[in-house]
Formats: sequence, structure tokens, C-alpha cells
Amino acid sequence: MAVDLLLGLQWGDEGKGKIVDVFTKNYNIIARFQGGPNAGHTLEFDGHKHVLHTIPSGIFHKETINLVGNGVVIDPVIFKKELENLEPYNTNYKTNLLISRKAHLILPTHRLLDAASEASKGKAKIGSTLKGIGPTYMDKTGRNGLRVGDLELEGWKDKYRILADKHQAMISFYNVDVQYNLAELEDEFFNAVEVLKGLTFIDSEEYLQRAQEDGKTILAEGAQGSLLDIDFGTYPYVTSSNTTAAGACTGLGIAPNKIGDSFGIFKAYTTRVGSGPFPTELFDEDGKTMSRVGNEVGATTGRPRRCGWLDLVALKYTVQINGITQLIMTKGDVLSGFKTLKICTSYNYKGENIKHLPYNIEPENVTPVFTEMKGWKEDISNMKEASQFPKEFQDYIEFLEKELNVPISVISVGPDRKQTIQR
Ligand code: GDP
Ligand code: IMO
Ligand code: MG
Repeated sequence: MAVDLLLGLQWGDEGKGKIVDVFTKNYNIIARFQGGPNAGHTLEFDGHKHVLHTIPSGIFHKETINLVGNGVVIDPVIFKKELENLEPYNTNYKTNLLISRKAHLILPTHRLLDAASEASKGKAKIGSTLKGIGPTYMDKTGRNGLRVGDLELEGWKDKYRILADKHQAMISFYNVDVQYNLAELEDEFFNAVEVLKGLTFIDSEEYLQRAQEDGKTILAEGAQGSLLDIDFGTYPYVTSSNTTAAGACTGLGIAPNKIGDSFGIFKAYTTRVGSGPFPTELFDEDGKTMSRVGNEVGATTGRPRRCGWLDLVALKYTVQINGITQLIMTKGDVLSGFKTLKICTSYNYKGENIKHLPYNIEPENVTPVFTEMKGWKEDISNMKEASQFPKEFQDYIEFLEKELNVPISVISVGPDRKQTIQR
């Protein structure tokens, strides 16, 4: 069986968690392939809201296997909290949540290094979630990292000590004010590691290989968004992993020719948390309305998300990079009541009109060129079928489909599981 992918096409927070939860009924296995607790994936059903950071978004379906792949970085302390949050609910995490031995561990000192690095950058800071993501992936590629599989070996604490001591020296090298009590952080860490060790560690590439041979259906769940990809995003204002389709191959051990559908998810407008260029960003009442109605607050850090119009230049780029076969649009309901909607269809780049994403999209180089569309007044959040949509909303969807040349097969009209419409 082919493996399907679900990928965020903007700067994250497109609604991946919600849609993975909705799609889970079609799959035997949900597998996260990159990122770590920098992600915040929100699910809503039965009047409850859940935010997951590392655990895949299929966890509330008892029959489904949820797998944390080798490409993910795990902070045992945050993982333990996520497990505690699941306790009141009916999940099967003790048996159905599997962890790759090759996934890397985020140490307390990785978090401190993240903070020190950001403090040293001053105004040029990335706006990291401060979860230790960058330093952990640096240790992975630098071949120094501690992996989940190490926890099964004698002497892993010696390896830990060597790495943590090195990190402490690095933190002092930054020469910035980062206050910490390492003994306390380590107590918490070692305690959480014991909880993590209560879960099932596996050779996940082998497991997934067998699952494919046995005809199991697999959905790979992305974290962050394509514009935060370490190679193809708005570098250096990106995260430290490949968030795009290729990341699912390296982050799970899936062969490229085994990929089936690549579902691409995007918001009907654009948001971004943290620093970095954002050509269609709004600083006016329209942006404030999107922020308020869309409740645009980071699910991991609680920071306000920057808001702006939909950027089709950037969206076309991420559709292509990922080989998207079907699109999912979320949060169209937030745009109800806007008299006029704007869609960026090209950039003015140093005096020239261009339709591709150039190397540099800083405001001094790029001015967005907009197409205007008529808005709709109706509240669409209670609609059950696409045929009920107001004409202007239909026009908006059809315009995007035509421009992107990919069908928009699912429309989300609210945060709840039930507010999902197949087209
Ligand atoms: P993720 O990181 O891609 O999983 O997305 P987040 O959970 O960080 O952010 C998406 C936010 O939008 C969450 O609060 C969701 O509950 C909410 N959401 C998802 N889809 C919709 C939608 O169609 N309409 C509205 N109004 N909210 C949505
Ligand atoms: P989900 O999976 C939105 C952003 C941070 C920062 C940059 C680098 O919920 O879509 P990092 O902590 O990775 O070093 O931060 O990336 N960022 C996200 N923005 N959604 C996310 O995840 C994000 N994960 C990281 O705000 O700008
Ligand atoms: Mg999120």
C-alpha cells in the first residue's frame, strides 16, 4: 500500500491536527515524521479541545497505531505531560503508541542552548519556540545526539553527561543571561525518561515496511509548514527539519516511489508566528479581524500569530515542491463578513512583475500584487454541504483551484471534527 502524506503548505498552524484526526478513520497507522514539541496540533470534538505536540493526531482513535518516527525530536518532559493530558480520555497509548529507536532526544541543555542562541541574536532572533529544536537537530547532524534507542543500553547516562557538559560550556560561550538550575531540570528529565521507557520502542522503518507489505494504510502527519522547511523555507527564519514531502521519506524510511496522495493543507488566509518575512502581512483592521475571529494565538507558545491575505505565489511554490495531489482549505469561516477579499497573485520584485517565489522576499524587495474578490456575509460554520456555500465563497474556492491546478477536496468551516465538508 502507498503511504499518504498530510503537509502544511504555509508557515504552520494550517489545521493539520484537526484534519489528521478527521482522516484517521481511513488509516491503520498515523506517523509523525519530523519536528518535535515546537508543533501544536489542535483537535476539537465532543466539546473538548486537545493540543498535541509530539504525539500523532490519530491518538484518540483506539484502533489506530500512532507512530513517532525517526525524524522526530522528543523532549521526554513534554512527552510525559502530553501522556498525562491523555489520561482522562479513552486512548490506547500504552499499546498503540510506538516510538522509533532512531528518534533523537531533546536534553534540558538543548532548550537552554536555544534560549542562549536566541538571546545572542538580539533583533535578528528567529522567534524560536525555545523547545530546543535547533540545537537538537544540530547534534543529530553533528553526530553527537542521544537517541531513544540509547535509553535501552547500559551507560546511556555517561553519554548524556558528556553531551550536557559540552552544552554547558557552549552556553557560557554565548555570554548572555540565561538563568537555570540544571540539577532541577535533570531531575525532571530523568524522571520523564523513565515514563518514556514505559512505552514501546521499535525499529520503525522495519515496522512500516512490514505494515506496507501487509496492506496497512498509513498517513504521515507533517508538523510546521513548507515555508518553515530548512531547505525551501524562508531561511534562516525556519525550523531545523525538512517539513516537505521528502522529509516523510527520511523521517520514516518510506521509499519515494511508495508515496500515494500528498494532501496539502492551507488556511483561506495566511498566518505566521515568530520572525521572518511575510509579504501579505496586514497591520490594519482586516488583520486584526482575522486574528480575533480566527483566534490566532500560537498553540505551543501562546504568542499572537501575524495575519495577512492568502499568498498564492508562495502557495503555488509549496504545492509544487510537495507534489500535492489534493488540497484541504481551512478557516474560510473566518473570512465571512469581509466586504472585499484580496489574494496575492504575483509579486512586484525590484520593479518587475514575477509569479515565482524569489530567493529574497524581504519587504524591501517584494511588494505583493493583489486580485480582489467579493466577500460573503453568511456564517458558513454550520453548513453541512458544499452546495450550501454562498456563491462568493464558491467563487473564492474555484479561483484558487484554477490557479493552483489541484482540486480542493476538503473544506473545513470550524475547529470541530464535525465542521468538515467533502467536496
Ligand atoms: P496545526 O498546527 O496545523 O495543527 O494547527 P493549529 O492547531 O496550531 O492551529 C489551527 C487552529 O485553528 C486551531 O485552533 C484549530 O482548532 C483551528 N481550526 C482548524 N480548522 C479550522 C476552521 O476551519 N475554522 C476555524 N475557525 N478554526 C479552525
Ligand atoms: P505546527 O506543527 C507555527 C516557527 C517558530 C519560529 C520558527 C523556528 O503547529 O504548525 P523552532 O522552535 O522550530 O526553532 O522555531 O518556526 N514554528 C512554528 N510556527 N507552527 C508550528 O508548528 C511551528 N513550529 C515552529 O515560531 O518562527
Ligand atoms: Mg500549530
